[in-house]
Amino acid sequence: MTSTTSEQQSTSILTTKTLVTIFTAAALAFILAFFAPIRNSLTKAIPKATSIRTMATTSPASLKITKRPWSARGHADHDWLYTYHTFSFASYYDPRHESYGPLRVINEDRVKAGTGFGTHSHAEFLIFSYIVNGTLEHRDSMGNLENLKRGEVQFTSAGTGIRHSEYNRNKDDEVHFLQIWAKPNKKGLKPHYETKKFTDEQKQDKLVRIMEYTDRLSSQPGAIGLQADLSMDASILSPGKTVVHEVVAEGPRKIFLQNIMTKRAQPKEGGAKIKVGDTIIGEGDGAYVDGISGLAKIEIESVGEKPAEFLLFDMGPEDA
Ligand SMILES: *[C@@H]1O[C@H](CO)[C@@H](O)[C@H](O)[C@H]1NC(C)=O
Repeated sequence: MTSTTSEQQSTSILTTKTLVTIFTAAALAFILAFFAPIRNSLTKAIPKATSIRTMATTSPASLKITKRPWSARGHADHDWLYTYHTFSFASYYDPRHESYGPLRVINEDRVKAGTGFGTHSHAEFLIFSYIVNGTLEHRDSMGNLENLKRGEVQFTSAGTGIRHSEYNRNKDDEVHFLQIWAKPNKKGLKPHYETKKFTDEQKQDKLVRIMEYTDRLSSQPGAIGLQADLSMDASILSPGKTVVHEVVAEGPRKIFLQNIMTKRAQPKEGGAKIKVGDTIIGEGDGAYVDGISGLAKIEIESVGEKPAEFLLFDMGPEDA
């Protein structure tokens, strides 16, 4: 008995609800059909998916900033090598992330103690490594043998061809570095190797030029020269501080930002964060910045809880 009553009640409630819904829908349809101004403002209030993306990432007006989230990068854990690939590399392939300007590879590598990349060859690439932590041994066919530590940057212009190995000889500690490749704008260059050290003090709340196009090197004698329209800066930016990058050349430019990780994964809270336009770039995240033309100024603010160590690439528009 009781159950029948409650079923009847819920049936009648449902019927009332259905009627109310039908009436409201009919009234709305009537209003929308006859009042064009309301219809137009509604259409404007519901932006299309593409314009949401542009709106959220555009600031100042002409910049188009596209975040490259840390966990969306290619990733491999080979035990001896724990790595993230910003662009297609090895078995990671994504046609949307092949290269950017002359930049072709950014790998964030951690190589286990006592392991490394055995001897292999390269040609027609500009390859540089930014050592974050630990020690990396470099050995090559030009006779170079070096142990690189935090702050050091090693550069190889492979040109007509070189062979090298990159090894972690330490028994206990891993080495963490960013391996970066760019495409040279001249073929058949004579192979070249050099290293330079850039201290934390030099990067503290400043941008320091690490790599510089040979055509612009006379104005940046402290940097390492490379044969591509690419400048790379590094910074260690304390929370609350801002740096301003002055775009290095006229005409259309591409900027890429990469925030370096302090752990194997981005922390869920806190950590190091930088902000460009309205886009927050956490540990391991990158950002493509398009729509730059002329000698613009790009402001980067540290908005996290830890100092943010990041790289900034300023490049000509031609893809590698
Ligand atoms: C640097 O490496 C050492 C040894 O592996 C480790 O103890 C330390 O936490 C690392 N520092 C950073 C900032 O990753």
